[in-house]
Amino acid sequence: MKFTVRRLKRHWVRALLFVVLASLGVLFTIATALSVADFLKLLFNDNVSGGDSVPGNLVARALEWLYSRLIVYGTGKALVFFSLFVLATYTMKNLFCYLAAVTMARLRCHLVKELRDDLFDKSLRMPVGYYVTHRKGDMLSRFGGDIIEYEENVINALQSFVNAVVSMFFYLLMLFYINVKLTGFVLCMLPLIVFVVSSVTRRLRRNSVELQERGARLTAMMEESLTGLKIIKAYTAIDYFNRQFRKQDDAYTRLRVSVFRRIDMASPVSDFLGNGIVIGILLFGSMLVMRSDQGLTPELFVSYITLFVLMIPPAKELTTAISQMKKGRGCEERLQGMLEEDEEPGPGGVALEALRSGIAFRHVSFRYGDVDASGAVRPWVLDDINLSIPKGRQVALVGSSGSGKSTLADLISRFYDVSQGEILLDGRPLRDYDIASLRSRIGVVAQDTMLFNDTVAANIAYGYPQATRRQIEQAARVANAHEFIMRLPDGYDTNIGDHGDTLSGGQRQRISIARAVLHQPDILILDEATSALDTESERQVQQALEQVLQGRTALIIAHRLSTISRFDEIVVLEEGRIVERGSHHDLMAAGGRYSELVRLQQTDADTTLFTATDTDKALE
Ligand SMILES: Nc1ncnc2c1ncn2[C@@H]1O[C@H](COP(=O)(O)OP(=O)(O)OP(=O)(O)O)[C@@H](O)[C@H]1O
Ligand SMILES: [Mg+2]
Repeated sequence: MKFTVRRLKRHWVRALLFVVLASLGVLFTIATALSVADFLKLLFNDNVSGGDSVPGNLVARALEWLYSRLIVYGTGKALVFFSLFVLATYTMKNLFCYLAAVTMARLRCHLVKELRDDLFDKSLRMPVGYYVTHRKGDMLSRFGGDIIEYEENVINALQSFVNAVVSMFFYLLMLFYINVKLTGFVLCMLPLIVFVVSSVTRRLRRNSVELQERGARLTAMMEESLTGLKIIKAYTAIDYFNRQFRKQDDAYTRLRVSVFRRIDMASPVSDFLGNGIVIGILLFGSMLVMRSDQGLTPELFVSYITLFVLMIPPAKELTTAISQMKKGRGCEERLQGMLEEDEEPGPGGVALEALRSGIAFRHVSFRYGDVDASGAVRPWVLDDINLSIPKGRQVALVGSSGSGKSTLADLISRFYDVSQGEILLDGRPLRDYDIASLRSRIGVVAQDTMLFNDTVAANIAYGYPQATRRQIEQAARVANAHEFIMRLPDGYDTNIGDHGDTLSGGQRQRISIARAVLHQPDILILDEATSALDTESERQVQQALEQVLQGRTALIIAHRLSTISRFDEIVVLEEGRIVERGSHHDLMAAGGRYSELVRLQQTDADTTLFTATDTDKALE
């Protein structure tokens, strides 16, 4: 609750307004209920003495006084007046209830919006390493499920709670005012009702938690299946997935049926109790009315019962609100925990204007966190790396899959911080630089090209919104992408769909190359995609890279060794260690790991060639 109250403080004016409007709504409801008494008095044309028949009760006296003023105009006219009066109070009541609801709706929407904005911002500010130890799915469920649950259970409950407390406060005040004894009697009965009703709802709550979890599991299954639709179809696993889903759905439905049974049960139970109390009041109240010295006139007694009946819904609301708040506590804590996680360092440190001498790794070791989820010590991914990339030079990094190439590249952008040793940029540790200014000087073409559902131009200009169309086109030309972009239906304004699904792998890569080029980075990091491109796309991507690399400081991670033979230095990484380095020529002559990798790739290529000709022959 503290979390919510703190967030609510920013909106205290609106919150206060809500309380005031809700109070006015209740006051007018009470006024309407009280006018009923006067109606009755008029109908039965009671003897009016001018206001002192009921000693000690201000409300009763005030009403009597009003009545005596009116009755002089005749019963008919007075009735009309009362009708209008009741209509007016009723309208006012509705008006204030409406205004209170509108105020609250705005407040709720803004609270939820702020929470959503904060979570989104947080998810981006969290260091990349956060997602090594936490599942991305948790963040997503925070964003989806928890926000909805928060609105339903916490904000809703808070609204009901305030509403109920305000209503009950005024109703009880009024009831006490009308008759203290009778109200005392009612208050004694109340705990009994609360106890019975809450014991029914408690069980209901326990089940509904399970219900939610099972429901979420179904959604997760749907999501998973849609993500893996191609695989499901490819392995003809539709029946299998259907069976799995139905099994979960059956259990979910059984639970739903039983929950509904309980809900239907809850209402008659509380109804019975409510009626029991009303009958009790009727009995006790009538006795008081009959003894005229108790200050309770028949009309006031009717008003009393009306007010009491009006008080039952807020009383119910209060118990539900309290149980909802308890239920929402978990969700509140999860959201709060997420929002209080450590962020990446903010602005500060040396601004990187331009690269002067180069980058150097000094005895760098790295692992993804110290221990994994089960408490086991994680292995070193990089082990004692020493490497220099002087300004204007290009270093190629090769090695088998999982040897740590992408990880090494990520350290330069400070997506992760080194575990041991240090990385120097122009002789200064990377940590000394302002992280944003460092990243703005680095262009990254990542292994898995990341495009967003937006236009081609917007995708190229990501993070550089001030880029002109001319600059974007220029970058696209360098990346060998201009021609295919012009062939798209709307050229640079074509929307490329989710993750750029409407483009081929080679086209996606060339767009991300254009993106890196547009920034005119001092340091370029290219992590070649492993996805096999056809020879034509590969050639185009290759040409693009060659144009881009001219005269730049770059780290190129290469999978196709044929493409890197001309680089200044080739570094071979195996299991996180540098096992060889040198030019293509030297390494081939040395006959070590590099030459082995080259030979393996050549055999692969030959095999493919051989199989192809073989098939061709067979076809002939
Ligand atoms: N986010 C991560 N969390 C935990 N371990 C990781 C993470 N990313 C990579 N690893 C592990 O670190 C090791 C090196 O991975 P990395 O991606 O750097 O290899 P790579 O050389 O780029 O491989 P590839 O050629 O397949 O791209 C692997 O064993 C991998 O399982
Ligand atoms: Mg990689």
